[in-house]
Amino acid sequence: MKNDRANFGSKLGAILASAGSAVGLGNIWRFPYETGNHGGAAFILIYLGCIIALGLPIMVAEFLIGRRSKANTAGAFQRLAPLTHWRWVGRMGVLAGLLILSYYSVVAGWTLEYIGEAVSNSFAGESPTDFISSFQDFSSNPWKPVLWLIVFLLITHFIIVKGVEKGIEKSSKIMMPMLFILLLVLAGCSISLPGAEKGIEFLLKPDFSKVDASVFLGAMGQAFFSLSLGMGCLCTYASYFGPKTNLTKTALSVGAIDTFVAILAGFIIFPAAFSVGIKPDAGPSLIFITLPNVFQQAFTGAPLLAYIFSIMFYILLAVAALTSTISLHEVVTAYLHEEFNLTRGKAAKLVTGCCIFFGILCSLSLGIGKGYTLFGLGLFDLFDFVTAKIMLPLGGLFISIFTGWYLDKKIVWKEISNNGSLKTPFYKFFIFILKFIAPIAISIIFINELGLLN
Ligand code: PHE
Repeated sequence: MKNDRANFGSKLGAILASAGSAVGLGNIWRFPYETGNHGGAAFILIYLGCIIALGLPIMVAEFLIGRRSKANTAGAFQRLAPLTHWRWVGRMGVLAGLLILSYYSVVAGWTLEYIGEAVSNSFAGESPTDFISSFQDFSSNPWKPVLWLIVFLLITHFIIVKGVEKGIEKSSKIMMPMLFILLLVLAGCSISLPGAEKGIEFLLKPDFSKVDASVFLGAMGQAFFSLSLGMGCLCTYASYFGPKTNLTKTALSVGAIDTFVAILAGFIIFPAAFSVGIKPDAGPSLIFITLPNVFQQAFTGAPLLAYIFSIMFYILLAVAALTSTISLHEVVTAYLHEEFNLTRGKAAKLVTGCCIFFGILCSLSLGIGKGYTLFGLGLFDLFDFVTAKIMLPLGGLFISIFTGWYLDKKIVWKEISNNGSLKTPFYKFFIFILKFIAPIAISIIFINELGLLN
């Protein structure tokens, strides 16, 4: 174990960095398409339930495990539960991080292509069908997306080797508020498009007749994915928190920001999609074929505004993705650095190299490699399914059991109350959720999906 661990400089830094990890493509790209695939408002309600009942308590648990142990995620379990198998929870998280980073970078790379498209004003004068076909041409091209994915991973790599505080904190502080404001403006534009009401109805009027096991699994997976939970990401970040950071408050802030951004993204995508006749279940391409329409149709009288906003949007989306890829990369890098005595530079190189390799395979699986499937899924979809819908909830299940049942309650209380200096009115309720509610709810959703309950 090296003793040169960094710290986040300020409390705000801790919140911003964690929120930077949470807010990303998961909110703006994945949340809308999962909502679209699972029928709209009812999915959103179940998603919100998962955030409150599972996400927030498990986030506090991850925070306290990380800050208490001051180690990477596998090392954290090792320290708090020496010579037990708990460290496998951390190791599974590291693997999940590697897999997510690989396919996530593919989509992050797409955002770079779209920055280029926005700068060269190539959305101007195009129709909705043009946007669909140009996205399909691009994403199935064997070279371009691969190139962008490599560029994106190299940028992430560069920031990771520059160190924790300078790299992560600085970029989060400026860009997150900007993204927030732009999203608000775009949501306003999208809602005012002709025919947008149907999209708003889709978001707000639940149709419970369509709810089945897969909707629950999808909502739970999305909650874990979006909050960066279940794989030790926030645990690794919390290992850089100072002793004064209020863990509960930080979790509430991160949860609120993350949820707000996802709902805003919904209010941008669906009104616009219904307005121009794009089906809400278009899948991963949804935001890339819908958003250019917002810039085209909402600003017909102001082409300059459309031009500036579209460039800003894709830049901020890329930055939101970057603060998330940094956090994913950090989990694996910190693990290799601390557990295998590699230098941070070497560890980072290994991670970047692996992710470029798997990322290329994921990217090709959407184009020339379409025919190659495993369990009926291409590699990109398989990585997404296995991580978001299996590994993260499973990680969350073990983290709640670990904190609720295994960990000494004195440690838990000390971390939550900052050694007795904070009031802890919800402490008992928190423990109750981790002990019973979270493990039972996650297990039921898993078992239900396997079809054993019907
Ligand atoms: N939460 C990130 C997003 O919404 C993705 C992520 C998942 C990051 C898991 C870290 C760990 O984009």
